[in-house]
Amino acid sequence: MSDKPFFSVDDLHVHFAGRSRLFRPTPPPVKAVNGISFSIEPHRTFGLVGESGSGKSTVARAILQLVDIQSGTITLDGEDVTKVSSGDELTFRSRVQAVLQDPFSSLNQVHQTRTIVGDAITRHFGINAGADRDEEVMTLLDEVGLSREFLDRYPYEMSGGQRQRISIARALAVKPELIIADEATSALDVSIQSQVINVLKRVQADTGVAYLFIAHDLEVVKHMSDEVGVMYLGYLVEKGDAEKIYNGPTHPYTEMLIASIPMPNPVVQAERRSLRQSFDNDAEPPSPASLPPGCPFENRCPVTMDICREEMPAPTIGHHGGEVRCHLHTSGPELGGESVVQFIESTARRSSTV
Ligand SMILES: Nc1ncnc2c1ncn2[C@@H]1O[C@H](COP(=O)(O)OP(=O)(O)OP(=O)(O)O)[C@@H](O)[C@H]1O
Ligand code: SF4
Ligand SMILES: [Mg+2]
Repeated sequence: MSDKPFFSVDDLHVHFAGRSRLFRPTPPPVKAVNGISFSIEPHRTFGLVGESGSGKSTVARAILQLVDIQSGTITLDGEDVTKVSSGDELTFRSRVQAVLQDPFSSLNQVHQTRTIVGDAITRHFGINAGADRDEEVMTLLDEVGLSREFLDRYPYEMSGGQRQRISIARALAVKPELIIADEATSALDVSIQSQVINVLKRVQADTGVAYLFIAHDLEVVKHMSDEVGVMYLGYLVEKGDAEKIYNGPTHPYTEMLIASIPMPNPVVQAERRSLRQSFDNDAEPPSPASLPPGCPFENRCPVTMDICREEMPAPTIGHHGGEVRCHLHTSGPELGGESVVQFIESTARRSSTV
């Protein structure tokens, strides 16, 4: 067995050039992705989470070759996918598929399911429209939990959850090894969201497909993923086992995301509200076109130190065995056995008594 990961992103940087305007200086580039690294194995899911604008979709678009990368490598079975020639593009497209947020705009409204899913089969396997292709489409409908009656339906005759299942069936039609699901469940109601997540999980158990699962909701990402990466302004600030990070985050930003998840238990909800108030919730994140020299979370973080304003923390091993980029774990004060959340709370208590 090869010791190389099946799919890997290494030190990826993506910058968007600033648009020049007549008689005005060219603005600096938008640094949307700044040194992201992660890998995914078959049967596994890597979740990317972060607020709007943190660079999640740009990572997805870089993998799908929809944007140019500044530097870094993206490899599938050891091959650099950023250098796929146009002749090999169809092979790449059959190995890596995408399922996006809005199936209404990505599915052709004038076609029935038999054509939407069937055309993908024709393109990749050369099976022309007819009984055999319909049979393949119906097998895929079974896989995503839709009855065979959906063969004749148009997208506008379906609910959001059903359309998303059709998108998944279309992606599966080419037997991909990696599916990039970018906010694939975000627009759905909670109950439909969990049905679609169950479909994705069952498909993974049946086919071994790997997922890059992108969402801004950490609760959903945790539910879906084996490993998770937390993005803030283009940086991966924390990465590791999804369950361990959710239960014991080591970066204040991850803690803030968790504190924002509504909880049914009123006691826990009150604790989370009070933790949320420790953060500067009014501070605007810096612009990705003029990132500060230090930690980009510094103006929202409740436990900032001098070094945070001066130096970007390097990735170090977190208590959960994954990685974290925060000075608290390197040149910061000893946490003295406290978790980051306890440290944030005790710092807040100390400052309220001064
Ligand atoms: N084509 C582009 N040209 C210039 N800037 C861009 C372009 N695409 C994205 N950006 C910028 O890059 C940053 C990252 O955007 P991206 O869409 O990757 O974030 P995201 O995490 O997917 O956000 P969301 O949760 O809203 O989908 C943002 O500041 C965005 O404005
Ligand atoms: S590096 Fe400093 S400012 Fe950034 S998250 Fe850690 S403690 Fe907060
Ligand atoms: Mg996005």
